[in-house]
Amino acid sequence: MTAHYQPDWSPLQPGFWPDVFGNEHPVAIEVGPGLGEFLQAISQAEPTWNFFAVEQDGKRATAVQRRIDRHQLINARVVWAPAEYVLSLLPGASVDRFHIQFPDPWWKRRHHRRRLMTRAFVAELRRTLKMESTIEFVSDVEDYFAMAQELLNADPDLSEVPTSPELLATTSFARKAAARGWKISASSHRKIR
Ligand SMILES: C[S@@+](CC[C@H](N)C(=O)[O-])C[C@H]1O[C@@H](n2cnc3c(N)ncnc32)[C@H](O)[C@@H]1O
Repeated sequence: MTAHYQPDWSPLQPGFWPDVFGNEHPVAIEVGPGLGEFLQAISQAEPTWNFFAVEQDGKRATAVQRRIDRHQLINARVVWAPAEYVLSLLPGASVDRFHIQFPDPWWKRRHHRRRLMTRAFVAELRRTLKMESTIEFVSDVEDYFAMAQELLNADPDLSEVPTSPELLATTSFARKAAARGWKISASSHRKIR
């Protein structure tokens, strides 16, 4: 098994992605890939894109790396780190798409502050996103989805656009939600200025 991709943790300079992937293809970041099912599916479906997954749980990051190795996903990488930290290292306008699928719901109200989607995180998504690029968001938790939409829609530099069904996840979380009869909601927001 190859090691997780380990950048030196210093702010990255514009134009660093070709050093990571060895080509100039557009780069999508998946925040919280879990076991990497979506990462595998999308990196195989879109060979002319690169996919950079950021997973804060070490065991899951290792599972994703194993999947990358097993399936020889040459256009996929995973790092073990909190996404907030990785994004803080990225130059502005350096990402061609974000995927956030089924973020941890943190059901209890007193735990809501641990949720990934905050005003500050949305500002970082927007800062690092290239113009005309999108944030693809999926959740099966109604109030979390509504809260995330409020944050995304409140940003004047982002505009909601129709979602593309081929960008949706078919992960264990998606299957569980469907089996429970939960509604899966998806949104897409484009950076417009
Ligand atoms: C509910 S799981 C969903 C996994 C996957 N997206 C899927 O649909 O199967 C949420 C994942 O996000 C990861 N995660 C949560 N907060 C994170 C953060 N701040 N940075 C990176 N990963 C995070 C968790 O460790 C977990 O693997």
